[in-house]
Amino acid sequence: MRLPNRAAVSRREYLNAAVAVGGMTGLSACVAELDGDDRDPIPTGGESLPDRQHAWNETLSVDDDGNHVPPKHHVLRYVNLAEGVEPADAREPFAAALSSLSEAIAWGPDGLLATVGYSPAYFGRFEESLDESVDLPDPAPLTDLESDVALDAVDLLIHLASDRPDILLAAEEGLFGDRAELNGVEIPDLSELFAFPEYDRRTGFVGAGLPADNQDTRGISGEPVPEEAPFFMGFRSGFAESQPSEERVTISEGPFAGGTTQHVEKLDIQLNAWFNQENHHQRVAKMFSPHHAREELVEGVGENLGSATGIVPETMDALIAAAREDGVVGHAQKVAAAREDGQPIILRRDFNTTDDKQAGLHFVSLQEELTDFEKTRNAMTGREIAGGSGISSRVNNGILQYVFVRRRGNFLIPPRELQSMPTPAGTAE
Ligand code: HEM
Repeated sequence: MRLPNRAAVSRREYLNAAVAVGGMTGLSACVAELDGDDRDPIPTGGESLPDRQHAWNETLSVDDDGNHVPPKHHVLRYVNLAEGVEPADAREPFAAALSSLSEAIAWGPDGLLATVGYSPAYFGRFEESLDESVDLPDPAPLTDLESDVALDAVDLLIHLASDRPDILLAAEEGLFGDRAELNGVEIPDLSELFAFPEYDRRTGFVGAGLPADNQDTRGISGEPVPEEAPFFMGFRSGFAESQPSEERVTISEGPFAGGTTQHVEKLDIQLNAWFNQENHHQRVAKMFSPHHAREELVEGVGENLGSATGIVPETMDALIAAAREDGVVGHAQKVAAAREDGQPIILRRDFNTTDDKQAGLHFVSLQEELTDFEKTRNAMTGREIAGGSGISSRVNNGILQYVFVRRRGNFLIPPRELQSMPTPAGTAE
């Protein structure tokens, strides 16, 4: 990926492109762009960080409706231990690098938020098995519609997020680039410890204006994505009422208590068909529910919805009966059926992407057990609904006609004290 001609694009598009390009090139472009406006200094860290790596919410701002506002820019770094390097060799230097990072940059969207996760392949390096209190299967296809899905088998996944692209790139360079110093703090060199697999860096963004600015991707004609949309498909998402608490997705028992599990599903989105073959009424029916479409409950990108879709979880029989009657079933309508005790069981931290010049979504999901993701994903697949109501496995089945799963990966995000090369027994030694 190359930086676009500065004069030909908006600032937002240019900064997103800089994040996608990454490395010193992306960082220099970002810094040069923002310096023109007296770039704010990087806020320094050093404060004590929450025990849960995934405890991001208390640092996030909330919008007028009380919904958490996710950080705007994201990078996923997939990393392997270099050949011959054992977890025990990497433990201390990696812990030192993470601690330097948190000393250099304040924790929060104005600075940096991060999680470090470990895959089943990483735990497979040890002789003993992963503590049985943790539900972390190998990644596998989860639906019949994804025969060519790639399964991530790398050791680690580091999710970095910030509202500031310059900070995100500086942090990444500090960890993996040639920078020995970050915001006045020395960062240990990790270059001997890690190896980078193919497709090791994935990037993206979320927030009103960003998808519209970055819609010039493969196969898109015109500029269909509305300016106000925080997500490519043109609707707000992540309402307070349809997100569980961080507590709900936290592992409650065993040596990894305080951690969580992470699933990352990469989806390509066929935006052209979504916007050009469907009108607002049809899009609302497929994204939310036919009832939402009939009653005109969703204005524009859903700015009138406040903090809830208003969807009430239905039983399978009721969903099938409704789908038979309506000839279509909504995405949110289906997945809400996976709620337990009134709360969804996965915490969505997804973001848009134009990786590979293709509009898509990195669906980052946190849950106490991987099974919670599978249950919710099965609800989205809606196989029983399709079988019982005569609608197709893709067409009129929520948004499935427009999204294509490309990759999946499973990770354990340990509590912070175990964030550097944990053993399967949940010790750091
Ligand atoms: C391009 C892909 C996707 C888009 C554009 C999308 C969009 C949306 C929207 C607009 C909502 C309603 C607003 C809200 O409740 O926050 C929603 C709800 C939801 N989606 Fe998705 N989604 C996508 C993929 C997925 C995937 C892969 C899953 C995984 C199972 C998922 C799980 C959920 C859940 C759990 C809810 C909340 C349901 C509830 O209220 O209980 N979504 N999504």
